Amino acid sequence: ARFVDMKALILAGGAGTRLRPITHTSAKQLVPVANKPILFYGIEAMVSAGITEIGVIVGDTRAEVMSALGDGSQWGAKITFIPQDEPLGLAHCVLIASDFLGNDDFVMYLGDNLLEQDLGAFVHAFESARLSSEPPTAQILLKKVPDPHRFGIAELDAAGNVIRLVEKPANPPTDLALVGVYLFDRTINDAVRAIAPSPRGELEITDAIQWLVDQGKIVRQELLTGWWIDTGKLTPLLEANRLLLEVIEPRVDGDVDEASSLDGRVVIEAGAVVRNSTLRGPLVIGKDARIIDSFIGPFTAIGNGCEVVNSEVEHSVIMERSRIIDITRLEDSLIGREAEVIRSQKRPRALRLMVGDHCQIDTE
Ligand code: DAU
Repeated sequence: ARFVDMKALILAGGAGTRLRPITHTSAKQLVPVANKPILFYGIEAMVSAGITEIGVIVGDTRAEVMSALGDGSQWGAKITFIPQDEPLGLAHCVLIASDFLGNDDFVMYLGDNLLEQDLGAFVHAFESARLSSEPPTAQILLKKVPDPHRFGIAELDAAGNVIRLVEKPANPPTDLALVGVYLFDRTINDAVRAIAPSPRGELEITDAIQWLVDQGKIVRQELLTGWWIDTGKLTPLLEANRLLLEVIEPRVDGDVDEASSLDGRVVIEAGAVVRNSTLRGPLVIGKDARIIDSFIGPFTAIGNGCEVVNSEVEHSVIMERSRIIDITRLEDSLIGREAEVIRSQKRPRALRLMVGDHCQIDTE
């Protein structure tokens, strides 16, 4: 990628209420899809767009996020962590990042967003528009959605200029949602200082961009091509897992015995052991996982060190070091780290459970 003279601000703080209980104790941005933390896709997107100076906003889960990302050298990037004491809003993140940002142009990227589109062209379009006679101060990415009340929404005039932005409106004026990737010049620093908290108590980036519009600044917009997923909930998370597995390069580095069969796009990481099992891709089996006498169906990501014995698993994300034993069958599920899902064969009618707060158990 060619070097771009811009910074990136990636937001990985906030409270992950919607993926509870997984995110009670760990960062929602580190939940894996296709066995890679969501946040890593964002870092990779910045680096491949030519941006290597990256600030990362971290909240309560900072220890975990910082140890997962390190100094960024694994991507050839330089990461600066910016702690946020409370999740006071996306515009608040810009406010507290002002030392890091200085007067530079930057990309703001929401750490729980995943998108198919390569961001290089989007970034370069802003760079060249900045050199024109009517330079934009911001650039947003939009996508038509069926449920606009869940997002920030943009209204355009006939020429395609952004004229109004509203955050999660009860009566959406359009179905054009703001995707979690924004480009700004330094004027945004004034905007985030000028606005007041929204009814939900947050400094909204949507309001800050509206402030730019109200000041007569030019806000460019582009329509996103390809898929985009705000992974904060279970169904979109599984959908992202499916979309990424669909294009995974098949590779077998683990040990598969003759009694097992592999079909379709299958990745088996080093140290994994597969015995007497049927694996129908697309799927990925993590490092040192053990798959014994089982069926693993399409769109499944089994994390590192997991154990699946005498079970069927399909369209699910199983996080690291969990065990699935004697289960027929597990579907559309997200299982956290070091969890155990085990059926007691002696008393098949009785359930014996240890269930944390906010867990969802559907025994059907
Ligand atoms: O996903 C796109 C949507 O993201 C936009 O359409 C909305 O306009 C925008 O407000 C935002 O809405 P969400 O309600 O989905 O944002 P959320 O609270 O999930 O935060 C997005 C990311 O930013 C997430 O990784 C957590 C992080 N964050 C959030 C807040 C509020 C922080 O790091 N600090 C914060 O203070």
